[in-house]
Amino acid sequence: MRTPEELIELKRDGGKHSAEELARLVRAFVSGEMPDYQMSAWLMSAYIRGLDAEETVWLTDAMARSGRVLDLSAIPGVKVDKHSTGGVGDKTTIALVPMVAACGVPVAKMSGRGLGHTGGTLDKLESIPGFRVEMSPEAFAVQVRDAGCAVVAQSADVDPADKLMYALRDVTGTVPSVPLIVGSIISKKVAGGADAIVLDVKAGSGAFMKTQAEARHLADELVRVGEALGKRVTAVLTDMDQPLGRAVGNALEVREAIEVLRGEGPPDLVEECMLLGAKMLVLGGRACDEDEGRIHLAEAVQDGRALAACRAWVAAQGGDERVVDDPSRLAVAARARELRAPGDGAIAGFDAEGVGRAAMALGAGRATAEDAIDHGAGIVLHAKRGDAVSAGDSVATMFAASERLLDAGEERLAAAVVYAQG
Ligand code: URA
Repeated sequence: MRTPEELIELKRDGGKHSAEELARLVRAFVSGEMPDYQMSAWLMSAYIRGLDAEETVWLTDAMARSGRVLDLSAIPGVKVDKHSTGGVGDKTTIALVPMVAACGVPVAKMSGRGLGHTGGTLDKLESIPGFRVEMSPEAFAVQVRDAGCAVVAQSADVDPADKLMYALRDVTGTVPSVPLIVGSIISKKVAGGADAIVLDVKAGSGAFMKTQAEARHLADELVRVGEALGKRVTAVLTDMDQPLGRAVGNALEVREAIEVLRGEGPPDLVEECMLLGAKMLVLGGRACDEDEGRIHLAEAVQDGRALAACRAWVAAQGGDERVVDDPSRLAVAARARELRAPGDGAIAGFDAEGVGRAAMALGAGRATAEDAIDHGAGIVLHAKRGDAVSAGDSVATMFAASERLLDAGEERLAAAVVYAQG
């Protein structure tokens, strides 16, 4: 039996692990027997040498089984989950969950917090006064059964391997490795207990995967490994070369998600919700194909069932459901400032990551896990790629608690907008 040190050497030299070795590696790390510095060395070896198709499945399986695996089988129907690989202004979950639940497919989702330039769904949801994201696995299952949906923080005893490994990857330059990303995402989904998963794989300047080819490869791997571990999985590639919708920042994004539920909302966000939602309805057995799924979703929005499902969801998690009908109850930052176009022309594009970092500088995100978040801070874009602008037009409104934060945000946002001369 190889020691942790020998397992590191094996991967360093390009060797292949057995399923048993990967299970042992994960167990040794989670139990504390294998210290952080050894896991860091193994992660770097795996980053450089890669993991083959079998190793990726074995690692993912070992991570999923490093803690509790939720059993949602007592809840009738196909339980569907959705996961995005992370982007800027991505509030689809907040609109999608009630849209899909309103169509009769239970949604069971564990989400993460924002770290770095991508916002986290939990932070967005917590901008609704009273909304609780901490819930025991038992309460999670009961809520999915009774309210038709739940979005909660991953509890500490679910996939502890990912939590610990991700923290090390974040500080050792080993995040952008396809096998490690696949292990991280799919192990959480397997442990979360849903039967079927729709994966939104982002490609572009605001995503981990900068090119379509990289995103395609990640999507194929996510589907392959998810299916190998017994889940029904669909992946879609979506654009992250500019923020999704117009709002970036927690309460601002909740407002925009509510607009979608009202039949309003920016076209790119609405389209992404329809695309992902239709796939969730197909996986959930509620629609034969995507076209039928789109019809069900559109009906749920038109007749108000999606809004009703949102009220029920917010109330079930202790939130103030009145925000669904009166978004002015959401936090608003004390100060606002316009970013103005420097000349006549058009918006050629965005550095989407730069927009995310501008929102962070305004107070909407956190640089370290301990940072507090200003739920009212952020950015609303008034122009998107291809839109014409004249000198002095407002390209975006920035929201923050102070002039100092607005200065910091403006500097970054101005640098993240690319203009084409008119
Ligand atoms: N999202 C995750 O959950 N894990 C990764 O490794 C990258 C993105």
